[in-house]
Amino acid sequence: MFEQVTAYLGDPIFSLVEQFHNDPNDAKVNLSIGLYYNEQGKIPQLASVKQALSVIQTEQLKKPSLYLPMEGLPAYRSAVLPLIFGKDHPCLLENRVAFAQTLGGSGALKIGADFLHNYYANATVWVSDPTWENHKDIFAGAGFKLKSYPYFDSTTLRVDCKAMLAAIEQAAPQDIILLHPCCHNPTGADITPQQWDTLIPILQQKQLIPFLDMAYQGLGKGLNEDAYAIRAMAKAGLTLLVANSFSKIFSLYGERIGALSVVCEANETAERVQGQLKATIRRNYSSPPTLGAQIVSRVLTEDKLIQTWLQDVEQMRVRINSMRQMLANKLLTLGVSQVEHLTQQQGMFSYTGFNKEQITRLRTNYSIYLLDSGRMCVAGLTNDNIDKIAQAFAALQK
Ligand code: LMR
Repeated sequence: MFEQVTAYLGDPIFSLVEQFHNDPNDAKVNLSIGLYYNEQGKIPQLASVKQALSVIQTEQLKKPSLYLPMEGLPAYRSAVLPLIFGKDHPCLLENRVAFAQTLGGSGALKIGADFLHNYYANATVWVSDPTWENHKDIFAGAGFKLKSYPYFDSTTLRVDCKAMLAAIEQAAPQDIILLHPCCHNPTGADITPQQWDTLIPILQQKQLIPFLDMAYQGLGKGLNEDAYAIRAMAKAGLTLLVANSFSKIFSLYGERIGALSVVCEANETAERVQGQLKATIRRNYSSPPTLGAQIVSRVLTEDKLIQTWLQDVEQMRVRINSMRQMLANKLLTLGVSQVEHLTQQQGMFSYTGFNKEQITRLRTNYSIYLLDSGRMCVAGLTNDNIDKIAQAFAALQK
C-alpha cells in the first residue's frame, strides 16, 4: 500500500539537532536551532514562568481538564493583543482584530495560510531570500505558489532594501508578502523604521496582504521597538496577519504557544474572520492545549509577574548582545576584519557568511554546529565556549 512513499530527507534544523545529540564530543556546541541558552549554557526556566506555574499547578489540582474553545483561552487574547499592538492602538480600540491562540508561531502561520487559501488560492506568497526554512513548506503545504524577494546582500552582510522594495513592487494584487518585523530569521539583518515606512505605501497601493512573522519580540531592540512594523501597518489601515510566538521569549518551547492576529478594516469583518479562524482550527486540531496560554496570560496581566518577565526578556536581549560584541572583539584580536555585521544584526541569529564546506569543517573538526546556510544561533554562545568558537571561526578564514 505504501510502496510509493518516498524517504523523508529530514529537516535542515531538527535533523541537525539529532546529529548534534549523537556527537560523542563532550565539548560540542549547538549553535543550530533557535534556542536561548543562559550564561551557564542551560535552557532556562524564566523566573516569571516559574512563579506563574506554581500558582497554576496548585489551582489545576482542583479542576478537571476541559477543552478550550477553538480560538483558545479567552484571557490569553486580552493579554496578548496589547503586547503586539500596544495597549491603545486604534485597531484594538475599534475592535477590528480577529485572534486565535495557536500551536506556536508555526501553528499561526499554518492557520493563517489555510485561512488565506480559502479566499486567495491563486495568490503567490513572497518570502525573503533567504527565509526561515519552514516558511516555504508551510505555505506550499497550504497550496500556494511561492516566489522570493531579494533581502540579504552576502557581500555587505546587510539588507538590500532597494532590491527588496523593487521586487515587492512587482507582486500582483492580493499576493501575500511574508515579512519578519524584527530579528530576521535566518540572517539577523533587519530593516529600519524608515525603511518600513517606505514599504507601507507600496503594500497599500499594490493591494498586497502582509503576513508578519514575529517569533522574537523583545530580543532585537525592545518589546515596543520590535513591533514597529506591525503597529505602523495597522495604523496605516492595512489588512494584515501577524503570527507571534512565545517559544523563545518565554522559554516555553514545548508548550507550543503562539497566536494569530488578523487586522481587518472594520469590526464587522473581524467578526466574520474570527468565525473562519475557528473553523480552520476545528478542522486542523479542534482546539489548542491549555497550559502555555495560562502561563502567558497570567504573566502578562499580573503586575508583579509582568515586571519579572520584562526583566527576563531584557536579560536575554542584553546577554545576546554582549555575546555578539565579545565574539566580534575576539575575532578582531585573532586577525579577522569583517566583524561589524555581528553587532549590527539583531536577535538570536547571525548569518556568518560561511559556506557549506566551512560549516562542515566546523562540525567535523570542532563539533561546532551551525546550519548549512551559515546561520549561527548567537544565543548559544557563552563565556565558556566563546574562545573555542572564535578560534575555530578565525582558523576557517585563514
Ligand atoms: C529556528 O529557526 O531554529 C527555530 O525557529 C526553531 C524551528 O522550529 O525551526
